[in-house]
Parts: sequence; structure tokens; C-alpha cells
Amino acid sequence: MACVLAIETSCDETAVAVVQDRTCCSNVVASQIPVHQPYGGIVPEVASRSHLEMINTAIAQALTEANLGWEAIDGIAATCAPGLVGSLLMGLTAAKTLAMVHCKPFLGVHHLEGHIYATYLIEPELEPPFLCLLVSGGHTSLIYVKDCGVYEMLGSTRDDAAGEAFDKVARLLHLGYPGGPAIDRLAKEGNPHAFKLPEGRVSRPSGGYHPYDSSFSGLKTAVLRLVQQLEQKGDELPVPDIAASFQETVARSLTKRAVNCAIDYGLTTIAVGGGVAANSGLRQHLQAAASSHKLRVLFPPIKYCTDNAAMIGCAAADHLNRGHTSPLTIGVQSRLPITKVMELYSKRQRAEGRRQKG
Ligand code: KG4
Ligand code: ZN
Repeated sequence: MACVLAIETSCDETAVAVVQDRTCCSNVVASQIPVHQPYGGIVPEVASRSHLEMINTAIAQALTEANLGWEAIDGIAATCAPGLVGSLLMGLTAAKTLAMVHCKPFLGVHHLEGHIYATYLIEPELEPPFLCLLVSGGHTSLIYVKDCGVYEMLGSTRDDAAGEAFDKVARLLHLGYPGGPAIDRLAKEGNPHAFKLPEGRVSRPSGGYHPYDSSFSGLKTAVLRLVQQLEQKGDELPVPDIAASFQETVARSLTKRAVNCAIDYGLTTIAVGGGVAANSGLRQHLQAAASSHKLRVLFPPIKYCTDNAAMIGCAAADHLNRGHTSPLTIGVQSRLPITKVMELYSKRQRAEGRRQKG
């Protein structure tokens, strides 16, 4: 059993959690949404300053809510890649300092591995192999989960990430930031078949289309053109219908790729992660398609889909149980493929002994 205090500051949430293996003991998330709202998007410099202001309170609160003291903590973890460099630096520096002061092992965690581990928090019996559909503000990935730290990227986006597409379309519909939840809300009042929008496809040099890769920039441009045409005609914008048609197109495209990928690779479980996993359209589409193909689809609750530190702690606890720790010399990286996760760790003898015992 490993009990980890984890910090997540890769973007606009200051999050701290205490996790015991796959059980969340506390999950504190201080959202910066109100701080960035006036700018219509995330301002990196503002984000890192805000992390600095919030981090100590969030750490204290996570320990209090878990009802644990430092003596109960086996390791201290922080997201170190990928993300906004200034933001990552705040969490990583706090975690390294705590690890040194309290003489605990330190672990740097890959943000996307955290999103994969979110599913274990609700499904502790789940074991690889399975397929993870990871849809966030920065990523749209189909990941073959083979083991802790062992991943194969089967599909990705060629341009905008799914969440980014939601945010950009919301901006052109004047729905504010963050766009995903706003579109999701409005889509419930609209007709998803009101407008036929193009589902982006990625062509292959050898001919045909890539079966698992996505592209959302064409869809975003199509929505822009539609809005311009309607505005030129002087019509009032049917915002709920546009939101519903856009959401339907994204949900259909992601569902098709995820289901085909799982079937082709013989994987019977699809775990969904990232902020866009909160989307009601995607949940309905994927759930329906999966059940008709006898696939199991797991959606963590929304608090574990959007950025949080519990998922980071869950990934760190698994690494710690396997004797993986990170040197205090590791830095932050704005980009790091998930296939390189193991570069963050070195093997540690004592922790390995503990895993074998318990
Ligand atoms: O995973 P996340 O919290 O942060 C990143 O790692 O990027 O994802 C944030 C993204 C944003 O683009 C946001 O608009 C989107 O997730 N999002 C949603 C919903 N809730 C959050 N997109 C569609 N529908 C939602 N309900
Ligand atoms: Zn994320």
C-alpha cells in the first residue's frame, strides 16, 4: 500500500489530493476559471501566479480532509509534463521541497498517465490491457494501456484537440470560457440534426483515411462559415441548434474511432478520460455504440475527468509500489509523449521490497 500526496498544476487548476493506492482520501481543486474568464482564455503568467497563491492552502486542506499527518505519507508527487511550463514549475517545486523537508520519495507524473488512472479511482479492479480515449483541452488520444508506464499511442488529433474545438466554437458563439460546459448545456435545448457539419478525416499518404486519427479544424471552420452566412442573412443565430449539431458531430467522430480501435485491437474495455469525457453527447453516443458492440465503457465522474490531483496520486502510488521514484533533478517539460513516461523514473530498492511484502 502506498499513500501519496499529489499536486497537479499543469494548467488552470491548483489541485492537491491524498491517495492510498486506488482510493481517494481527499481531493482539493481550486479552479482558476474566474481568474481567466475576463481574458476569454488562460493567461499562462496569471495561471502560475495564481498557483503560487493557492498551493499552500490546498496542501493543508488536502491533509486535513484526509485526516492524515505527514508521517502517513509514503511519497510526494507532482505533474511535471506536459503542460504550461510556469504552472508545472509551481507544483513541481512545491512537491520537491516537501519531499526534501519530510524525507519522502519524490515522483514526477505525466499528466496523461494521470487521466488514464482516473478510471482506477472508480474501478479499482480494472487491470490492463484496455483502451483509453483521452479527450481534454490539449489532447485527443486513443491509447493502448498495456501496463503501468507502458502505453502505445494508436490515434491522435492532427490539429485542434477536442476540448480546444469546443472552446473555439464556444468563443465564436460568444459563450465565454470554458466553452465545453457551455456548449453541452445549450446543446440540450437544440436539434443535433439542424445543420450537417463535416466530420474531419485525416488522409493517409498511401491513400484512404487514418482510422483512429481525428481532425477538428475543418469542423471549426465550417461552424464559423455557418455563423457568418446566418449573420449575413440577418437571421438571429440559432445558437442551441448550432451547439447541438457541433456536439453531435464531435461525439459521433470520437465514438466511431474509439469503437473501431477497440474492436481492431481486441480490447473489450474503453476507459474515457479528460475534460471532454464530461460531455453528455459523447457519453450517450459512446455508451450506446459500446453496448451494441458488447464493449464495456467506463466514464469516471466529472470531478475525476477534469483536471484533478487524485488521478495524479493514483498513478504515482502505482509507480511507487513498483519501486519507481524520480530524481529531484527532473524538470518540467511542456511536451512529453506518453510513450516516454518511464524516463521520469529510476528504480528504488526499498520501495520494491515494500511492494513485494504487501
Ligand atoms: O482535462 P481538462 O480539465 O484539462 C486539460 O488537460 O486540458 O480538459 C479541459 C477541457 C476544456 O477544453 C473544456 O472546455 C472541456 O475540457 N470540457 C468539456 C466539458 N467540460 C469540460 N467539453 C465538452 N463538454 C463538457 N461538458
Ligand atoms: Zn488534463
